Amino acid sequence: MDWDTRRPPGTSVASTHQGPLSPVLSMRLPCARALAIVLSLLSATLAASYRQHKEIIGEDFMEDFNVEGIPDPTHGRVTYVNKATAQRSNLTYATKTRFILRADSESVVKRGERGRQSVRVRSKDSYRRHVAVFDIRHMPEGCGTWPAVWEVGDNWPHGGEIDILEGVNNIGPNAATLHTGANCAMDANRSGQKGEQAKNNDCDVSAGRSNLGCSVRMRDARSYGTPFNKAGGGYYAVERASNHIKVWFWTRSAANVPASVKSGAKTVDPDTWGTPDAYFPGGQNCDIDKKFGPQHIIINLTFCGDWAGNANAYGAAGCPRTCIDFVDNNPQEFKNAYFDIASLRTYIP
Ligand SMILES: *[C@@H]1O[C@H](CO)[C@@H](O)[C@H](O)[C@H]1NC(C)=O
Ligand SMILES: *[C@@H]1O[C@H](CO)[C@@H](O)[C@H](O)[C@H]1NC(C)=O
Ligand SMILES: *[C@@H]1O[C@H](CO)[C@@H](O)[C@H](O)[C@H]1NC(C)=O
Repeated sequence: MDWDTRRPPGTSVASTHQGPLSPVLSMRLPCARALAIVLSLLSATLAASYRQHKEIIGEDFMEDFNVEGIPDPTHGRVTYVNKATAQRSNLTYATKTRFILRADSESVVKRGERGRQSVRVRSKDSYRRHVAVFDIRHMPEGCGTWPAVWEVGDNWPHGGEIDILEGVNNIGPNAATLHTGANCAMDANRSGQKGEQAKNNDCDVSAGRSNLGCSVRMRDARSYGTPFNKAGGGYYAVERASNHIKVWFWTRSAANVPASVKSGAKTVDPDTWGTPDAYFPGGQNCDIDKKFGPQHIIINLTFCGDWAGNANAYGAAGCPRTCIDFVDNNPQEFKNAYFDIASLRTYIP
């Protein structure tokens, strides 16, 4: 579902206020004007505020997400299982307070199989302008792993892709990346973010080579892999507004985790969260409302494939033998290839 366009006409915030406000017209002018000023100040301060749409904790993940047993379009050494298999094999596991999504760490991959069994989940809801806050205790780590928390629209790349947490072979820190259709580029030398942008700032998947996208690498090593897990994980947040996309990361014990993020508040105002790790400004160079359609949230864990299995990326990480051989024959190496997610809260304007 797309929460911007699904709202029936005439029920926007502005129009529901029309009834109660109509007495304004009969007030004496100074009073009406004072009220108008107060209202405009109010709407200015509310501009960046979002209200909670979903609070997804533990077993809710199995309700609010579909398990997708589909082939990996990026050619990963993976067999994505369906919901029944995921539950039977304990590759998804939920309690009141946690949701686990993991790869099989018991079996050798047999000849003829597509790859190591793992799970991909996709939110039933889709979002245009929104905020999503992920509280993650543990993420998959290790050679050959390619985990991702991301958002994607229809008819890729035309509906856009926002990679919030993604990487390969335990190489951190995290990079946040956009992938889009034509005509979406970022300023190569922008301020307003803590991270470091990659050389390629054209988000168009067909610009340059091999679908790099426009990427910003975070500076905190605890944003990815083993250091992330050693620190007890942390919080990831994304804001998609009409004029920008921002991504934040706070390690578990950071002193500057916003109170609304920590407490799972019913409303959030990302303008109060401080400088984001990644900042993708919209405007002339990238019309965010046009380049990004309604998007689903996806959490997946694949292996090897176009990125993690690339001989350079794999070897440079100090990983043994070849990626496929390692993934196929060493189930015990994948004991830590799991997500433990405490909560996901989504917010809409
Ligand atoms: C899993 O995640 C990666 C990283 O974002 C993505 O490129 C890949 O297409 C995904 N695979 C599937 C089947 O979703
Ligand atoms: C499934 O995984 C959870 C979490 O790792 C574990 O506590 C539980 O015992 C497992 N269940 C089975 C049947 O193995
Ligand atoms: C980026 O901007 C800074 C400050 O405006 C400037 O000093 C620097 O030379 C610029 N770098 C590039 C690559 O344009």
